[in-house]
Formats: sequence, C-alpha cells, structure tokens
Amino acid sequence: MQTVEELELKLSEPSERLIRDVGRIKGDIMILGLGGKMGPSLAKLLKRALDKSGTTKKVMGASRFSNESMYNELSNFGIDCYKVDLLNDGALKGLPDAENVIYMAGNKFGTAGNEHFTWAMNAYLPGRVAEKYKRSNIVVFSTGNIYPFMTIDSGGATEKVRPLPIGEYAQSCLGRERVFEHFSVKNGTKMLLYRLNYALDLRYGVLLEIAKKVVSEKPIDLSMGHVNVIWQGDANEYAIRSLLHCESPANKLNITGPETISVQWLAEQFGEHLGKNPIFENRPAKTALLNNASRSFDLFGDPLVTLNEMIMMTVEWIKSGGEEIGKPTHFQERKGDF
Ligand SMILES: NC(=O)c1ccc[n+]([C@@H]2O[C@H](COP(=O)([O-])OP(=O)(O)OC[C@H]3O[C@@H](n4cnc5c(N)ncnc54)[C@H](OP(=O)(O)O)[C@@H]3O)[C@@H](O)[C@H]2O)c1
Repeated sequence: MQTVEELELKLSEPSERLIRDVGRIKGDIMILGLGGKMGPSLAKLLKRALDKSGTTKKVMGASRFSNESMYNELSNFGIDCYKVDLLNDGALKGLPDAENVIYMAGNKFGTAGNEHFTWAMNAYLPGRVAEKYKRSNIVVFSTGNIYPFMTIDSGGATEKVRPLPIGEYAQSCLGRERVFEHFSVKNGTKMLLYRLNYALDLRYGVLLEIAKKVVSEKPIDLSMGHVNVIWQGDANEYAIRSLLHCESPANKLNITGPETISVQWLAEQFGEHLGKNPIFENRPAKTALLNNASRSFDLFGDPLVTLNEMIMMTVEWIKSGGEEIGKPTHFQERKGDF
C-alpha cells in the first residue's frame, strides 16, 4: 500500500460482520467531531457497510471542518455534513436528531496552558450533547488514559480497574465519561464508553513515529517501554458495532489490539526491514499505559489487521514516502502533560 487512495479504500472496506451488524442498527446515525483523524474513515466505512447491507439510513456528521476540503469530500461520499462549533449551544441544538450518535469530539494536545478549554470540550460539552441527544444511543469515544499505569506483565487494565487518570487531559477525559454516565442514569439514555488506546492508519500513529526515528537515526525513548495499538479500520468497525451494545447505566468497553508490545522490539523490527540500527535512550519502566481489550474480542471477534501486517504496511509506506498527518501521539508521556 503506497497511496492515500489505496489506504482510504482499505480503511473503508466493510467486513461481512460489520455489514451484518449495520443491518441491525435502527435509525439514522450522527457523528459528532467528524473532521479529525478517525471520523472521515469511520463515516466512509459506515456508509459503504450500509450500502452493502441494503438498508437505507442517513449518515450525518458535524464538525468545524478546520480541514475545509473534508466537508466536500465527505458530502460527495453521501454523508450529510454540518459545519458547526459544538460549543455553540444554538448550533448544537439546531443539529438534526438521530437515533444513534457516535461522539468523537475532544481536545488533547495543547492542554498545558489552556486547561480550561480542554475541560470545556471534554467535560462540559458532554453534558450539552447528552441533553440534546437524550433519546439516542450514544457511543462515546473515550481513552485508556483514564486508567492508572499497569505493570507490563499485567495484561493491561480491564474495564474493572478503577480509573486513576494522570494529568489534566486524562482527568478531563474521566470527566467526560462521568458527565455522560450521569445523564445516562438521569435520562435513561443508552450509552457505551469506548476506551481506546492508539489507533493508527499509516499517516499517523505509534508505529509510524517509531519507524521514522529508526530511519532518521534519532534516539528512541524506552521509558514508556510498552504500548497497545490497533488498526484504525478495526477500531472504527468496533465503534460502529458498539451502537448495538449501548446500555443505561452506560456500558464500558476497552478497545485496542491484543498484544502488549515492547517498543524496543518494534524498533528492532523496523531496523531489520529498513536496514538501520535503532538508537535507544532510557530503560523501559516496569509500568506503562496498557489496556486489556479482551472483552471487546468476545463481543466482536479479533481485529482483522494483525500487528505484523501493520508493521509491514508501515515499512512500505515509509519506503514510498507516504503522506503524514503530522500529529504525534506523544505516547512516551508519563506525566500526563499533553
Ligand atoms: N486516535 C487515537 O488513537 C485515540 C486514542 C484515544 C482516544 N481518542 C479519542 O477518540 C476521538 C476521535 O479520535 P481522533 O484521533 O479522530 O481525534 P481528533 O483527530 O482530535 O478528532 C476529533 C475532531 O473533533 C472535532 N472537534 C473538536 N472540537 C470541536 C468542536 N468544538 N466542534 C465541532 N467539532 C469539534 C475536530 O475536527 P474539526 O476541526 O473539523 O472541528 C477534531 O479534529 C477523540 O476524542 C480522541 O481524543 C483517540
């Protein structure tokens, strides 16, 4: 895979299990925060799955569309796009109702020094959205950052681990969950809190970041020595299928790949395939931000794209000078300063 067109096609290719499940979703779907890294390919995947399932449901999406061309691209794909700032209450109220909502809006980078905005986005807006869409099923994108660091031999935090977020970004994400949970109980709204760790799509993500350091012979910090990753296509498929698992009080579901992956091992894989000797700094800590998504595999089946495929696709992408989004994950961060 070498071009954005090929990548977009792969990301939006619906599996049989997705086509079957979208046929069971009742009513239209609204995606809030459509314009980011994951939203456009989620919307296209959903649209293609609906078309193949032979059911007619509207796919709608709202975002500020900071990337202006995305508005036209998604509109041309058959998505009903609304250009709004969700923090503008009038604009939020003016959005069409929908039986199903996938909530992807949030703020992470630039939190340090602008904490108030992150809290407004991540913990205030959820209350406004929960009231507006109180009669909908809502899948709420959350993050594994709400968990404490886990030992690297623990298998990662399951949904039973008590949240202990590190730093204000992660705390505000727990705020997002708690506010949605409150309205789930108060209004009986069915929800699923989708706790994701590190999706990637070749243009961005943990693998690209490590591979690029290997190529440029820059030191790779091993202090966050272990990670979880998942192919964005699989993460998006799980998010759509999560609409069938919304509950009141809110259901909680971890989403990531099945492996606890050593950063050093990843760099060595890239070194081998790219003909470089990786340079390391610091020693791996005994703990890391680790998510255990085994419950999601029971519900949905294993991810369709394996770790080795992601590594090999990343190698090919880098060799062919593939496009990059330029939004690093900062997965190395141990103090929660984003
Ligand atoms: N990608 C990952 O690996 C990962 C991991 C854990 C959690 N998450 C969470 O999952 C969600 C989706 O991930 P992502 O990577 O696609 O995030 P993202 O790139 O940050 O996309 C979220 C999008 O929401 C839109 N948005 C933000 N504020 C808005 C506002 N006031 N009004 C309207 N739209 C607004 C923005 O698009 P516009 O500029 O068009 O408004 C933004 O790009 C995010 O909440 C993210 O924090 C992602």
